[in-house]
Amino acid sequence: MSENKRASFGGKLSVILVAAGSAIGLGALWRFPYIAGKHGGAAFLLVFLLSVLAVGIPAMLAEFAVGRSTRQNAVGAFRSISRKWSWLGYCGVICAVLISGYYYIIAGWSLEYLVNSATGSLFASDLSFKEQFEAFQGSYRPLWYCIAFILLTHFIVAKGVEKGIEKASKVMMPALFVILLVMAVRVAFMPGAAEGYRFFLSCDFAEAFKPETIMMAMGQAFFSLSVGMGCMVTYASYFKKNNNLLSTSLNVSLLTIFVSVLAGLVIFPAVFSAGLEPTEGPSLVFVTLPEIFSGIPLASVWAAAFFVLVALASLTSTISFHEVITAYISEEFKVGRRVSATITTLVSILLCTVTFFSLFGVDFFTLFDYLSANIIMPLGALITCIIVMWFMKKEFMPGELTNHGSVNRAVTPLVLFMLKYVTPVLIFYIFIKNFL
Ligand code: PFF
Repeated sequence: MSENKRASFGGKLSVILVAAGSAIGLGALWRFPYIAGKHGGAAFLLVFLLSVLAVGIPAMLAEFAVGRSTRQNAVGAFRSISRKWSWLGYCGVICAVLISGYYYIIAGWSLEYLVNSATGSLFASDLSFKEQFEAFQGSYRPLWYCIAFILLTHFIVAKGVEKGIEKASKVMMPALFVILLVMAVRVAFMPGAAEGYRFFLSCDFAEAFKPETIMMAMGQAFFSLSVGMGCMVTYASYFKKNNNLLSTSLNVSLLTIFVSVLAGLVIFPAVFSAGLEPTEGPSLVFVTLPEIFSGIPLASVWAAAFFVLVALASLTSTISFHEVITAYISEEFKVGRRVSATITTLVSILLCTVTFFSLFGVDFFTLFDYLSANIIMPLGALITCIIVMWFMKKEFMPGELTNHGSVNRAVTPLVLFMLKYVTPVLIFYIFIKNFL
């Protein structure tokens, strides 16, 4: 498709905000704190940072290159490289479907908590926050909020790339940074916060180098950067030819790390201050955070601000995996954007309903999360790196990284070396070590 017929994102800042919008979401604000809490706090943070650097950024660059050069959805992009690679695009679409099957549920929790904070009912109840969370889980409300979230995503995606996705990200991302910074400052003044900083910032190396910690941290890097499943391929297909891929990927990764660390700095001091356990699991954010705010003036306003933040960050991410499926259906089956977005939405509602009822006695929640972050995304990233470095023309990656000789010329050899040897070997090694 020619450049002028296909939609494209605006300038440099828009591209960074849109890609960061996909990256920063429940991964940084909800998944990172609860997994770090289970795997030693600072130890996990250290391995996560190394993973972003050694595997996340190179794999993101490989995806950017594939997307921008082919200007197609994930399946079309890999197919246009060679028919034998189209299956990798399908894996990406399947992974987006799996993530849809549970991500909207957590996003729905944030919406419910936002409403309950804003109306004040969260702080008016006689139940503890843990009991409130359990009561909420035991009702049908999470399903209704989940469906509401899917519909919200639907309307933005159906509006299209420039009017919907780009506009939404430009407003929501800066709002997110401001709210999070204010919260980090507020939490620092809570009694007992120091214990939380100690947990999050002092490293136990024995924990850091356990194979399981390394695998979880690598999975978190891929999940958090939205890499390894065609999402960045799809987004990069809307990039302009002169976007600097390297600086975009560095900016997106830095922002993601920044938000993850800030989330840790907000949540762990709060956990310890409230006398809770950092190993609480998926409910960590939802049980702990209200605890921080109760007892301080304007509790409802603080809590509502925080849950607005979680909901906004989730929305810019749900938009991106919705777009992976929507772009695939619309381009491969030649149907309009509204039709393809509607199909994606209906599939998402169906899957979330299955997950909500944990049908057939299966815990789909854990299954979908594990399959996507720890299996499909690392393997997808591994194979994408191999394709761009070992199967494409020699000039392909250097050409994409330097915009055909005009930028990044000095660092490109190092990035190419990482992409060709270091990143694939590391992913492969970590994978094998965990499963064999
Ligand atoms: N990166 C998002 C987050 O951390 O919340 C999740 C995500 C979005 C994963 C889009 C994959 C994806 F394609």
